[in-house]
Amino acid sequence: MLSRYVVSQVKHNSYFLVGLALGLWVSLVVVPLEEEAGAACASALGPPPRDDYEPQREERPLGPAPRTQARTLQRPRYYSTELGMRGSLLTGVLSSEEALKSQIAALNHTTARLHPALKFFITASAMSSVPGLANVVGFTDTREMLKPFHALKYLADNYLEEYDFFFLVSDTAFVNARRLTELVSQLSVSEDIYMGTVAEDDSHYCLLEGGVLLSNSVLRAIHNELDWCVRNSYSPHHHENVGRCVLHAAHLACSPAAQGESYAAVRASGTDEPPALTPALADAVTVFPVTKAANFYTLHAYVSRVHLQRDAAEVRRLRAALWRGAPRHPPHYRNATWPAGLRADPGLAPPPPDSRFDHLRWISFNATHAFFPDDHHEVAPLTGANREALDLVLAAARAWGLRRWADAGDVRLLEGAWRWEPAAALRYRLLLRLAARAGGGHTLRLLEVVRPLGAARLVPVRYVTESARLSLLLALPSSGHDDDALAFLQRYEAVCLNQDKNTALLVVIVGAANETQAVRAAVGDLARRHAGAQLDVLDAEDEGAPAPPGAEPEGARLLRAQRLALAAALPHLPRDALLLLLAPHVEFNQDFLNRVRMNTIAGEQWYLPSGFARFSLYAHPRFLAPGGGKPQVNTGRFNLHTRLALAFYRADYEAALAAWRDGRAPPADVLARAPLRVLRRARAGAGARAPAPPPRPPPARAPSATRTSRRWTRARDTRSRSCCSRLRPTSSPSKTCFNIFYTQYSVVLFALLCK
Ligand SMILES: *[C@@H]1O[C@H](CO)[C@@H](O)[C@H](O)[C@H]1NC(C)=O
Ligand SMILES: *[C@@H]1O[C@H](CO)[C@@H](O)[C@H](O)[C@H]1NC(C)=O
Ligand SMILES: *[C@@H]1O[C@H](CO)[C@@H](O)[C@H](O)[C@H]1NC(C)=O
Ligand SMILES: *[C@@H]1O[C@H](CO)[C@@H](O)[C@H](O)[C@H]1NC(C)=O
Repeated sequence: MLSRYVVSQVKHNSYFLVGLALGLWVSLVVVPLEEEAGAACASALGPPPRDDYEPQREERPLGPAPRTQARTLQRPRYYSTELGMRGSLLTGVLSSEEALKSQIAALNHTTARLHPALKFFITASAMSSVPGLANVVGFTDTREMLKPFHALKYLADNYLEEYDFFFLVSDTAFVNARRLTELVSQLSVSEDIYMGTVAEDDSHYCLLEGGVLLSNSVLRAIHNELDWCVRNSYSPHHHENVGRCVLHAAHLACSPAAQGESYAAVRASGTDEPPALTPALADAVTVFPVTKAANFYTLHAYVSRVHLQRDAAEVRRLRAALWRGAPRHPPHYRNATWPAGLRADPGLAPPPPDSRFDHLRWISFNATHAFFPDDHHEVAPLTGANREALDLVLAAARAWGLRRWADAGDVRLLEGAWRWEPAAALRYRLLLRLAARAGGGHTLRLLEVVRPLGAARLVPVRYVTESARLSLLLALPSSGHDDDALAFLQRYEAVCLNQDKNTALLVVIVGAANETQAVRAAVGDLARRHAGAQLDVLDAEDEGAPAPPGAEPEGARLLRAQRLALAAALPHLPRDALLLLLAPHVEFNQDFLNRVRMNTIAGEQWYLPSGFARFSLYAHPRFLAPGGGKPQVNTGRFNLHTRLALAFYRADYEAALAAWRDGRAPPADVLARAPLRVLRRARAGAGARAPAPPPRPPPARAPSATRTSRRWTRARDTRSRSCCSRLRPTSSPSKTCFNIFYTQYSVVLFALLCK
């Protein structure tokens, strides 16, 4: 049965079975053949080319990883250095001591746009004869022929890594700085550039009088061949020597055009006459020869006028284009304007603020007073910049109103409100009272006025890396702050010793040295637990303490302690140290330390964070919820008056101190008078947090209240990572004369100068 069944199945499927057998046979025969062929090819061709994308297996012995060489990456201070970003143009003017007395000042003024990247090179027989001018470089070598090479060598030695283009010109040329910067902005530094006016006698060299533009790569090539160039300088004309040098070093001939841009220079008929004033002058990079100071100014005035006329024409053209384009915008979106960055979607309302600190509020005012102008006042007289700004707005509103409402005889302000919108504008709403021209009676009008933010108020700030080593300096008065100091040390261990190791701590105990044993012991303890941590304790004399010990307000005492601590600590710190001065009751986190590193720039800027002051907990019964209810994280306010936490470089502070007569001023006041920028900043979400009067035994209900506030403090520390400082409000108001508001959306800062 079975065999018959099998036979019948085979008969039915014979084609399939034959096909199957054939397939098996073919596959058995063919596969070995292919392998052999492949192997033969491989042996003939050598090892197959390595595929970059194929994973490579790397054998490593098991066990603990071998100690790799310590690869500590040293990051430079500025992102621009790290990314190889360079300035665009450095201009060098070949000049002489005689010219310094005549036309150089004119040339210096008319090229003010090129500052600070403008250098004058002179041959000074003795450097002492060079007056103290900031941008004059004197060479002691008096051989006139070599002057351009000295200049080129100086530029290459000092600025090769800092600038993309170098412009060399003699002092008998008027330089059209605007056209020059425009030209350079259109050129790519990735190609070699040797640009200028071709000398008539030789088509390979650029005239030095007409200006020579060299790219970084060309200057580098010249620098490498400088010996050859100096040996082969024999022509009486500078441009021939320089041109020969470029030709030899970079194999380039002078070209008046490159990358679609052309270089024009206008030749004047005589040295004493300015050339005919034609609009072509505005398109020329240089005009030469010009030697009289008056002619520099004439040319500058004329060229500036042509540029202004062109700008005005451009504005008209854009206006007309906008006008023509407006009907094509989608309906309801026609009023959508800049700044786009402040909106989530163009044309839609801005997103609601994240917290109450981001809420832009209207501040109402009458003609003399502002109501709730800040967190600290209910009513304050309008003074300073606010007053001036309001006066300007009122004058404009009054003039506009009188033109607009013909029957109005007088326009006066009844009340109003302003709102400061960072990065956009200052907005006013004015309620005006119009007195009728004829007869009595009046009407009320509401007017909205906007003062857009102008470009002049944007302060460019360098991007810096977070790599700087930070020295924390804790100034500790000898009594009354031990608990705070111990808490500070705990925080220092948690934040710095365990996470951010790029810090050092210096505790300076001001006053009776025998009273702070607990703090000394705690510091010693920390040092034992963390080998390699930089922890020091110094002592400073408490000079100038007022006679009855308790007479001084607490804020003043801390400020005095900080000043004395700084004086004692500075000699122990490296000259380029970045210092963060803190009071014992300040809280901070790693993010804050990084902010300090980024916001303090040597020689440019110091940082005065505005700490968040928590409200005093014992003073407000609602915060003593017996059921354990905790106050909100943000019950407090930013204390703009505190000056107890600040960051600066040692060298900057010493320079400021040297220029300061009274040695008894607090550190922030000393720095505020220095020619440095101060960054003041209140960060809502994170960073500096609020100053509350510290949990001190409250006046009346001492023990229980203290315990509660303590508990709360600790709970906050573990839960909120962004908590930063509890600063005690100080008694005297800040004298800083510069406020900078920071906006999240852009990298620009708004600076409000107050008088
Ligand atoms: C050129 O102007 C700058 C800034 O105004 C000034 O510092 C410098 O000393 C001037 N140089 C000369 C040579 O007048
Ligand atoms: C744009 O705003 C002006 C003034 O607020 C208003 O008169 C005008 O109707 C608005 N246009 C559109 C298209 O919304
Ligand atoms: C503005 O308000 C303040 C405070 O209420 C008041 O003293 C002052 O007289 C008012 N000024 C004017 C011009 O009404
Ligand atoms: C510290 O020393 C001063 C004088 O040297 C003394 O009056 C004071 O009692 C000492 N304080 C303590 C806590 O030992």
